[in-house]
Amino acid sequence: MSAASSISGQRVVVSAGPTYEDIDPVRFIGNRSSGKMGFAIAAAAALRGADVVLVAGPVSLATPAGVQRIDVRSAAQMHAAVLAALPAQVYVGAAAVADYTPASVAAGKIKKHAGPFTLELVATADILADVAAHALRPRLVVGFAAETDHVEAYARGKLDKKRLDMIAANRVGLAGSGFESDDNALTVYWPGGERALGPAPKTALAEQLLDLMSERLR
Ligand code: C5P
Repeated sequence: MSAASSISGQRVVVSAGPTYEDIDPVRFIGNRSSGKMGFAIAAAAALRGADVVLVAGPVSLATPAGVQRIDVRSAAQMHAAVLAALPAQVYVGAAAVADYTPASVAAGKIKKHAGPFTLELVATADILADVAAHALRPRLVVGFAAETDHVEAYARGKLDKKRLDMIAANRVGLAGSGFESDDNALTVYWPGGERALGPAPKTALAEQLLDLMSERLR
């Protein structure tokens, strides 16, 4: 079986984009993730014949052809939607999931007062770690990491701690790469190996990532 076709017919769940954590009816905590990398992976996997479920945070990107899209807003909603999409052979966690969410959502708009304002945040569940530890664990669980320094040490730490099969670390700080860009540069780590990809358009990186993933599925 060729590397390109080994993902054909497999169920692939991809999560992409930011999450928005509501503070009150008009405010939220979000981040600058564009969703482009995850959408490119979903599109490329569908073109290779995979059965793709794309769990998307709030982004304004078109749904790739042949992909089943589930829109969510918060980390808790993304967690529920991803787990509900199992069983699958592959999970790619490309979303920038909020690490913290407000302890409670105010029913009405929070009024301005003199002096500082403190918002209590609580940790969100780690979707990737929960998928990797799930009874219905996919054969391949792939994460992303955005690191500014000690890229390999931090990425490999997450690979071990979250029990992943592969992690793609963004080489941030390079011109023309990162969150909102169409281009990116990644170093992919797996137990016993690594590969530097790009800088290249996210669509090209998605193909190269799928090649690496397909090798591991054989
Ligand atoms: O630990 P860190 O957040 O840096 O790890 C990044 C990876 O973990 C990404 O693949 C991201 O989608 C995933 N993640 C998650 N749930 C969280 C936080 C991060 O799935 N609550």
